[in-house]
Amino acid sequence: MLKILGTGSYLPEKVVTNDDLSKVYNLDTNDEWIYSHSGIHSRHIAEGTDATASMATKAGKAALESAGVDPLDIALVIVATVSPEYHALPSTACIVQDALGCKNAYAFDLMAACSGFVFGLEQARGYLTLHPDKKALVIGAECLSRICDWTDRGTCILFGDGAGAVVVGQAPEGEGEGAKTYSYLRSDGSGAEMMGRKGGTHDPVVIGAPAKNEWLFMNGRGVFQFAIKTVPMVIEELCKEAGIQVSDIDLIVPHQANMRILDSSAKRLGYPLEKFYSNIETTGNTSGASIPIALDAAVKDGSVKPGMKISFVGFGAGLTYGGLLMTYPYL
Ligand code: COA
Repeated sequence: MLKILGTGSYLPEKVVTNDDLSKVYNLDTNDEWIYSHSGIHSRHIAEGTDATASMATKAGKAALESAGVDPLDIALVIVATVSPEYHALPSTACIVQDALGCKNAYAFDLMAACSGFVFGLEQARGYLTLHPDKKALVIGAECLSRICDWTDRGTCILFGDGAGAVVVGQAPEGEGEGAKTYSYLRSDGSGAEMMGRKGGTHDPVVIGAPAKNEWLFMNGRGVFQFAIKTVPMVIEELCKEAGIQVSDIDLIVPHQANMRILDSSAKRLGYPLEKFYSNIETTGNTSGASIPIALDAAVKDGSVKPGMKISFVGFGAGLTYGGLLMTYPYL
């Protein structure tokens, strides 16, 4: 029986409000429009040398401390991110592995956008099933402020920076008996052009040509339509597999993309919106980091308690989507 042994998160100190975006950053927008279209009032933004690796390290350290686990006992470090410290290599996870002193671990980045943390947990579950005596650190970390076009009001208003982490390992003998975890994970590359970041090998390099536009792009309406269909479908698939009703889920900890997506999903499912945990108002969309940041907050404020049936659901660029249904903290 696997268990989430501890959680941790980190949000940079600097807070940028919607009013700041219009007044300080001269963006043609306002708090009323952003809040009514997304549920976001403010987001945290990394400053100076703080970036994906340092945020991931701080969240990872907090999770290790909450779990009471020695970094030397970690065998696997996964960092789910689409805003890595370097352009693809070296992996952010290797920098984090070194910074945390996880000297006995192998480490890699996992790129599945906003579903990255859920995909990462499933990878850790698979690895720990093969190696039951080991422990894994799964982190979601993003510094999206560095890849957003701050002149594009249709995208930059949604995103924020931060990191969240969990430590996974064996539950003590006899704990969590009868608990079972279900997963439903999918990708649909036919929607690859809906959201992404140009500047990879997709665009041939012309020597001497100006630098390529590498900012995040998004078909907002397309992503919205995808999300409001996907979230209810994933939850329903998980419940079908587990043989339970949606109403049997005590709390859903979803990817924090947009309050309107959660609202629509709740209506489609006939499930109370209050049971979708949300901190998007003050974090914005932190992509792969959003679920572990929300989970850590939910554990700390008592919204997630041992024995509760909870579900994670992620969706994002790729397209990727999926969820896990578990009896917290047993995986
Ligand atoms: N402030 C003020 N006006 C804005 C604006 C902003 N920040 N962004 C767009 N607008 C304007 C547009 O220019 C447009 O004006 P026009 O009608 O005069 O042309 C109008 O608002 C409607 O724009 P549109 O892009 O159609 O808005 P929308 O209702 O689709 O909302 C999103 C835009 C991005 C909030 C919405 O599509 C969304 O939430 N999509 C999902 C995005 C997401 O969650 N992505 C991450 C997934 S992991």
